[in-house]
Amino acid sequence: MKIKLKRVFQCQNCGYASPKWIGKCPDCGAWNSFIEEVVEEEKKHTLNTMDKPQPLSLSSVELSVTDRISTGIGELDRVLGGGIVKGSLILIGGDPGIGKSTLLLQASSSIAKFGKVLYVSAEESLAQIKLRAERLKINLPDIFLLSETSVERIIECARQDDFAAIIIDSIQTVYTEDAVSAPGSVSQIRESATKFMHLAKTTAVPVFLIGHVTKEGAIAGPRVLEHLVDTVLYFEGDRGYAYRILRSVKNRFGPANEIGVFEMTGMGLEEVTNPSLLFLSEHANSSGSVVTATIEGTRAILTEIQALVTPSNFGMPRRNFIGVDYQRVNLLVAVLEKRGRLNLQGADIFINVVGGLKITEPSQDLAVVSAIVSSFRDTPLPEGVVVFGEIGLSGEVRAISQTEIRLREASRIGMKVAIIPKSNMERLKDTFRLRIKGVRSINELIEIISS
Ligand code: TYD
Ligand code: MG
Repeated sequence: MKIKLKRVFQCQNCGYASPKWIGKCPDCGAWNSFIEEVVEEEKKHTLNTMDKPQPLSLSSVELSVTDRISTGIGELDRVLGGGIVKGSLILIGGDPGIGKSTLLLQASSSIAKFGKVLYVSAEESLAQIKLRAERLKINLPDIFLLSETSVERIIECARQDDFAAIIIDSIQTVYTEDAVSAPGSVSQIRESATKFMHLAKTTAVPVFLIGHVTKEGAIAGPRVLEHLVDTVLYFEGDRGYAYRILRSVKNRFGPANEIGVFEMTGMGLEEVTNPSLLFLSEHANSSGSVVTATIEGTRAILTEIQALVTPSNFGMPRRNFIGVDYQRVNLLVAVLEKRGRLNLQGADIFINVVGGLKITEPSQDLAVVSAIVSSFRDTPLPEGVVVFGEIGLSGEVRAISQTEIRLREASRIGMKVAIIPKSNMERLKDTFRLRIKGVRSINELIEIISS
């Protein structure tokens, strides 16, 4: 059969295809991300009449208990939804140098206690991996290293033996002969990932793919693989901080948005099992600093939101928010001006979430507003106060979900007072070891802070 080739331009960030070159991707908004690739024309599928697809009634489908293996790293297991599901394809993305290879080498060392692990490195030499392993004090006969870039040869090697897990470091540096374009391009990494998917599903061996997140440039980002794999984990963190957050953004076998917290030490990654304590470790009771409880996956984490409100020296006041949603906080500032009668027009406002955490839920509203008011009035909140709740456009404080989990975590950490939406307070069933104050409006909150 003759294969027809066709030329397309593909966005290296999201995989959007276009017949001609364009400067800005209409799909993901990336600039200068299009590269010409040669792809195979889609083949027409002919249905084999001998083998008709048969649907199965829902009630006759039987559930088998999913087999999971532990990685030996509690935080990683939790983010995966309770261990690695056999035969699953897991993508771990993150900036170069964040610690992806380190994490998976550490996981290999526990998996290798009950099975062989194949660690394929397409970007580092065996000596480099050995050096890292020495640093981590890992020296196990059942970790097998392979320095190889050809997908076909990797798969051949993987099928030769019974492995408990296979790690591909990284998906952007391997290439398959079945895709014509250059390694690292969208069609290459898609085609390669599909082959590893097939390997995982047919052998029931879990396969980890490491993917570099790229700001822009010649190699495609892991985003183009998100729909294909079973689980997508992102390893985030600031180079300036020692801790790293592993976040599940998609998981076919567990809750999404679960996070695991690690600390990069001289001896590899260490689990942080009590992140609230870490994020609050340097919390001081100064004005503008407020403790809030946010839900990350299945658990609550206490963290600190800081605001600095100062008179502006420029005509245009500066607004700089880190770790919170820019639009959302602008809206809260407007509500504070209009409903709370705070004159913030001539003020620079800076907000920061301590520890590089990014909070996306509306439950942070009340804490953000408290921090702004506290800094504006220069009155610190009393010690041991935790604040959470959503704020509406008319300044009303609205109920949020999972109040109990947040309160439980707050009292575990030793908080003394919780300021929460009144409507949530009325619905509480449990009792907690802290005093709970319900607020109905932004003005009630301002009164509490100013008193
Ligand atoms: P690495 O796992 O190579 O990152 P990635 O695979 O995501 O590119 O880790 C890179 C960084 O971690 C590197 O700057 C060195 C640092 N590191 C430590 O601080 N301690 C350690 O024990 C190890 C192995 C690495
Ligand atoms: Mg690496």
